[in-house]
Amino acid sequence: MQKKRDAWKSRLGIIMAVSGSAVGLGNFLRFPVQAAQNGGGAFMIPYFISLLLLGVPLMWIEWTVGRFGGGFGHGTAPGIFHNMWRKNRFIKYFGVIGIFGPLVIFIYYNYIASWTLAYAVFSAVGKYGQVTDQNTMLSLLKGFQGIEKNQFFSNIQSAYIFFLITFAVNIIIIYKGISGGIERLCKIAIPTLFVFGIIIAVRVLTLGAPEAARPDWNIINGLGFLWNPDFAALKSAKVWLAAAGQIFFTLSVGMGVILTYASYLKKTDDVALSGLTAASTNEFAEIIIGSSIVIPAAYVFFGPHQIQQIAADGAFNLGFVTMPLIFQRIALSAFFGCMWFTLLFLAGITSSVSMAQPSIAFLEDEFNISKKKAVIIFSVISFILCQPAIFFLKHGVVNELDFWGGTFCLVLFATVETILFGWIFGIGKAWEEIHHGADMKIPRIYKFIIKYITPLFLFCILGFWFYQEGIPVIMMKGVSQADKPYVLGIRLMLLAMILTLAIMVRVAWRKRLGNKK
Ligand code: PFF
Repeated sequence: MQKKRDAWKSRLGIIMAVSGSAVGLGNFLRFPVQAAQNGGGAFMIPYFISLLLLGVPLMWIEWTVGRFGGGFGHGTAPGIFHNMWRKNRFIKYFGVIGIFGPLVIFIYYNYIASWTLAYAVFSAVGKYGQVTDQNTMLSLLKGFQGIEKNQFFSNIQSAYIFFLITFAVNIIIIYKGISGGIERLCKIAIPTLFVFGIIIAVRVLTLGAPEAARPDWNIINGLGFLWNPDFAALKSAKVWLAAAGQIFFTLSVGMGVILTYASYLKKTDDVALSGLTAASTNEFAEIIIGSSIVIPAAYVFFGPHQIQQIAADGAFNLGFVTMPLIFQRIALSAFFGCMWFTLLFLAGITSSVSMAQPSIAFLEDEFNISKKKAVIIFSVISFILCQPAIFFLKHGVVNELDFWGGTFCLVLFATVETILFGWIFGIGKAWEEIHHGADMKIPRIYKFIIKYITPLFLFCILGFWFYQEGIPVIMMKGVSQADKPYVLGIRLMLLAMILTLAIMVRVAWRKRLGNKK
């Protein structure tokens, strides 16, 4: 007999939950930096093409495949893939990536989300109120992260406390379950986050006339920096890779999380319109709100040259160094600073709970254990796994985790998933499955896109990426001698995680076979 699984309470609930997973730090920090680093307007063309040919099809695939698997009592990729290709004994092991990837992202993303909580509090109490230049603001961040000792922080203690609070919030929400925890959180957090985002974006867009000495540093030019197209950059494989990578990351597709969320749907629930709605909500947050805050604001205050430098320094500097400095210069700075970091915290937490859910579902579905037990096991293990990201941050541990969890695994997973769907399961059956209970008819062209274009696009990306970035990263090019042991240590940890998951799949299937006999 199949165990009764958790379920979403309402359609709005799951749309909010998937949107919650998608709308995250990626929309407000990663997107503007990626766009700025890759030529602003030039980036947006491959971005939109990737959205239409990769993002939206993968969204539909994951919703459909997830709902299909839920019908068999499986909420994660091993069981779902197994049911899609019963003749193949190995495909279930491949599905392990759909639990491993999100777990790897969880163990660093959560820590970063905890910085946003800390900075929301710092904004409110005026901790950085006297700081007026980039270097000092950067010192504050480094002191907080335990990278250096300075006048602001002498150890990592306060960062650790904020991490503990954030971790606990995650666990409580996950423990409360799909409808009682995640759905309830997202139904409140997502609208709140949109309101905050719109208020901040309006504030930035109405910053007013620039200083007389620098008339070019105005909002229109700031927006132009992001939106003026530069067709020459279209020839660069790097720009295409960055755009496709951002689409995956921002939509949370190619990971396995939406698969798990959709497994709690009923067979008759719509996936076509809901999937499209969730993707559109994310794109609104990214393109309309995300692009109207950090880049235009940084342009107005720091000008076109420094902004490139800031973007080159990465997403964290932009969010935690540049933005606080900008808020200092406008009226009601504590209010806007606190609102910005609260927005990021809400965006972060609604994403991080989604990364935990595949692990929980795997334990519950495949080992038949209670939610309570699954959450306890997950808490203990993931808590231990989070520690290297906290204590070895300065040794490049987060970059390493991001590379494997946030880049490598997802392209691989998306490719397998698309081929399984369009070719093994078969596009005819797949098309019927998507439209089962659907509230919209998907344009027929997508039948062709899902079968041919999306996998082809994925193969090209996989090939280019491997050649351009994969090999150098795997060979640890650019990693300092001092950091190599840490990077290697992390790789061993990841290897141990993936092997453990594969063994668990084997044990679960043996047990099931034994029970059948
Ligand atoms: N989509 C999230 C963001 O834009 O920040 C990140 C994310 C969520 C990545 C869920 C992975 C994941 F499983």
